[in-house]
Amino acid sequence: MAARTFRIAPSILSANFARLGDEVAEVVAAGADMIHFDVMDNHYVPNLTVGPVVCEAIRPLTESVIDVHLMVRPVDRIIPDFARAGANIISFHPEASEHVDRTVGLIHDSGCKAGLALNPATPLSCLDHVLHKLDLVLIMSVNPGFGGQQFISHALEKLRNARRKIDDLGRAIMLEVDGGVNAGNIAGIARAGADTFVAGSAIFGSKDYRATISQMRDALRSVG
Ligand code: DX5
Ligand code: ZN
Repeated sequence: MAARTFRIAPSILSANFARLGDEVAEVVAAGADMIHFDVMDNHYVPNLTVGPVVCEAIRPLTESVIDVHLMVRPVDRIIPDFARAGANIISFHPEASEHVDRTVGLIHDSGCKAGLALNPATPLSCLDHVLHKLDLVLIMSVNPGFGGQQFISHALEKLRNARRKIDDLGRAIMLEVDGGVNAGNIAGIARAGADTFVAGSAIFGSKDYRATISQMRDALRSVG
């Protein structure tokens, strides 16, 4: 079997927002594969972050994929705005959509790749009947709303099961993990089947972004 492609997606939630443009440029120069963009509404999750204007502002700073994680309810209205602002991937939570299949269609019609984000207590069965339309499955390994939380180890079993479903389907779907990922646990998480790793505090909270990302890549090399 060919070696899997691993992607590291720093979450700007833990960046210094007073100098966000520089932070994005620095993390891209340090080897980030994608920029993870957490959108929170103080309604679906108890925190409030940034919207399409900020996405639009960082778009010219990088050719990397902008991976928008919507933690907002309702979700549909804001999707075209993010597509226009330069998002490449848009993920949402099934609990935040009245019609999951329609929301996936809306993301695709807006020209973006579509992801479904599953909270720690959201069962994998919510992928039934929609997995074949997805480009990404996001397994939350913390409850959404804040950076800097501890990885919930039950997510490993969920990743293994999600990996199996994706492999059985045989479609190129990214399996992303979000929450509490660091250089110390990333290899075990990759072994459970994830190929795309969001890391906020582990990268932006470190002194040297390049060194931290290379430690993560070194750990991933041991997985193959
Ligand atoms: C949590 C966000 C995460 C968060 C991860 O709701 O979706 O993307 O930024 O932060 P860390 O890596 O610090 O757990
Ligand atoms: Zn996120």
